[in-house]
Amino acid sequence: MSTQIGIHDVAMATAHYVLELEDLAQRLGVDPDKYRLGLGQDAMSIPAPDEDAVTLGAAAAAQIIARHGVGGIRTVLFASESGVDQSKAGGVFIQGLLGLPRGVRVVELKQACYGGTAALQAAVGLVARNPEERVLVIASDVARYDVDTPAEPTQGAGAVALLVSADPAIAVVEEAYGVATMDVDDFWRPNDRSTPLVAGALSVSAYLDSAIAAWDDYAAHGGVSAEQIDRWVHHQPYTKMARKAHRALGEHLGMELPEGPLEDTFTYNRRIGNTYTASAWIGLISLLHHDSTLAGSRVGVFSYGSGSVGELLTLAVQEGYREALDPVAARAALEERQKLDFDTYRRVYASAVQGSADQRTERSGAQPYRLAEVKDGARRYEKA
Ligand code: HMG
Repeated sequence: MSTQIGIHDVAMATAHYVLELEDLAQRLGVDPDKYRLGLGQDAMSIPAPDEDAVTLGAAAAAQIIARHGVGGIRTVLFASESGVDQSKAGGVFIQGLLGLPRGVRVVELKQACYGGTAALQAAVGLVARNPEERVLVIASDVARYDVDTPAEPTQGAGAVALLVSADPAIAVVEEAYGVATMDVDDFWRPNDRSTPLVAGALSVSAYLDSAIAAWDDYAAHGGVSAEQIDRWVHHQPYTKMARKAHRALGEHLGMELPEGPLEDTFTYNRRIGNTYTASAWIGLISLLHHDSTLAGSRVGVFSYGSGSVGELLTLAVQEGYREALDPVAARAALEERQKLDFDTYRRVYASAVQGSADQRTERSGAQPYRLAEVKDGARRYEKA
């Protein structure tokens, strides 16, 4: 029998500030129900100027290291589409901040929101080669769009860290998977831009096309039938999008996929917003925290990254998975955020650290890691 490999521990982090979408709607003259019901979103995390994909990723990864130490970790995979350097992997800063051993390889992966899932599958492959090794996967992003565009209410910021090992305590990544790559300009960020360009309606249809193509590929490559999948997690740029994907899959399969259980996957992301590479995995963490009946069940995860790459994989949830979880820390990360009013949100948005000009940042809060300054063009981070 082949080694069982999968997710041994999970942790998440989000940004220092939160904006209620009702406040955004009021100031933009939009019906708040458009955001609450139309997009399925209530709030979004906003990073302080001393936060970015590195500090959020470090905050998530530190929780895993505190619980398990560094033993066996020889690879750190950092997935992001809001990485801070075109050359150096964001995970290298995290290696320094967390004091991880030198004897690790660190690399950054990118394919829009899909990068975290690519990192997970790569990690599974590495552990299959040597089951003594463990791989630290970090998926971290700041989802930032231009203000006064339809995408503004779908911003957010957050990170997940996954410890991938043999005989995992939480969930085995099952062997069958379905993948689909389609070259489409639905959402992209040229090198000279800090915000993406988006073809909104096309991005929705491209996501749905990808979900169906990934399912068909999964079915053609040894996947189980939809009846054997007990729960679903879909990438959540906003939670209504996951609902749309679920319905489209049901229609494609000619069966009704119950929507009720999706709610447990939405609890965190409704209040965090889009976190790109981390989004589907925060959806999974939310499900694991809110559904105590998952032992022995199979969870289907659909991950989508614009441009586009989609993957459908399944997880077999392990007996005793709840003992490996830390829902208190996750809820604290959400509840301890500082509320912004609209004007302060726009000021914080405008003061995000961009480019390579030297500057120092003010300490925004009690987060464990922060961007202290840009000096001689290099970002310098510090422990709080
Ligand atoms: P919009 O123009 O504001 O949307 O942009 P809309 O006018 O179509 O309204 C949205 C929904 O609200 C509609 O429901 C309306 O009916 C409803 P739907 O038809 O979709 O079911 N609505 C209301 N409901 C209740 N009460 C009301 C009301 N008014 C309207 N009063 C859009 C929406 C998502 C396009 C925009 O926010 C956007 O461009 N977002 C960014 C792109 C995005 O998130 N795309 C999702 C798929 S692509 C993806 O997931 C990849 C991504 O994560 C990036 C990556 O991979 O790196 C984005």
